Amino acid sequence: MSRPNALTWMVFSLSTAAILAGAGGCKKSGSSDGSDDPNKPHEITPKEYFTESVYQRIATQSACGGCHAGGASPCSGGSCQFIDKDADSTYNRIARTVGYISAPQKSPLLIYEHKDRTDARTKVTGDQANVLGIWLGMEANARNLPGAVQKARNLQDAYEQFAACMNNDVFVGTGMQNLAFMETDFDGPCSGCHSKGQAGLWLASDPTLTFESMKKFPYIQKFVVGRVDSAGNFKDLIPAGRIVDKSNEPCPVGSDGCHPQYGVSDQMKNSIEQFVNLTLQNLAAQTCQNGIVTNTDDDAGTLPDGGTP
Ligand code: HEC
Ligand code: HEC
Repeated sequence: MSRPNALTWMVFSLSTAAILAGAGGCKKSGSSDGSDDPNKPHEITPKEYFTESVYQRIATQSACGGCHAGGASPCSGGSCQFIDKDADSTYNRIARTVGYISAPQKSPLLIYEHKDRTDARTKVTGDQANVLGIWLGMEANARNLPGAVQKARNLQDAYEQFAACMNNDVFVGTGMQNLAFMETDFDGPCSGCHSKGQAGLWLASDPTLTFESMKKFPYIQKFVVGRVDSAGNFKDLIPAGRIVDKSNEPCPVGSDGCHPQYGVSDQMKNSIEQFVNLTLQNLAAQTCQNGIVTNTDDDAGTLPDGGTP
């Protein structure tokens, strides 16, 4: 019996929190019964991800399923009726349709432009784009399709990939350009002391300089750190949490060399969390250039015939 897979990292976007078990959930434990073989972590398969996260977002009447589920479908042919009664048969249909399962930047499911776009449901929403992108990215990796992201072999590779995936629109859009101006309780903003990378943190008053500098090692470690499996091999990147954690470090009584006190607002915590998670998500789905995909809030209002979203 394999143990239930722990969620290894969470990916968020502004519109959705999709969950990926990126690289297995085997906890290092003291148990010696050999049941949790560290070399065989349970990874969520692309199909499982499709079943759990993609199907319900595309299959309903108020989504692609409104037209692509056969029956009253306005178009015919196998490639047009790709939604079926459940996740399993839908997955099989899609898998049988040439070209549908390919890297996110190539799959018609994400990039097809409808001739008639008067019906809002023909437009892939931000939420759908997120899960489709992640799922197809996983498929591309698993099947070694052209355009798949190479899995990082070591921490250095992983940092390079993360840095290359850091997107300034995401940085600004999540509010990270405000980080350098966060105030300490009595000693002014972070940029006052960290403007040139002091203590491994680069927070300059010029947001572009901050963004470009934080891409580099060692600064990038304040965003993400690597995990290793129990054999000591690099496994994956996870959020570092360092900037928030530092604010919670107690100053020993009587000590006079402590870091200036600061509290991180919920808003700033969200900014950091979203920026890091979105970058990890974009890296997994190979959508680093997309910036932030937002849901159009008025999707619901533009459905014809009183369809309920
Ligand atoms: C209002 C009806 C409608 C909805 C909703 C709709 N489509 Fe379509 N779709 C069509 C029609 C009609 C065609 C055929 C040609 C065209 O109009 O572009 C089509 C064609 C396609 C094709 C190409 C099929 C082929 O045989 O080449 C893809 C891929 C596709 N749609 C994906 C989607 C996805 C993904 C969604 C949900 C985000 C969606 N469609 C929602 C009506 C719809
Ligand atoms: C008055 C100068 C000063 C200000 C202002 C300041 N820092 Fe620091 N910071 C330091 C010094 C000195 C260190 C190294 C010693 C230490 O870790 O306490 C440091 C270390 C850190 C580290 C630890 C690096 C690591 O991972 O070990 C973090 C994180 C950090 N600062 C975050 C911040 C943030 C966030 C702000 C703004 C809210 C801030 N600092 C404001 C002086 C400052």
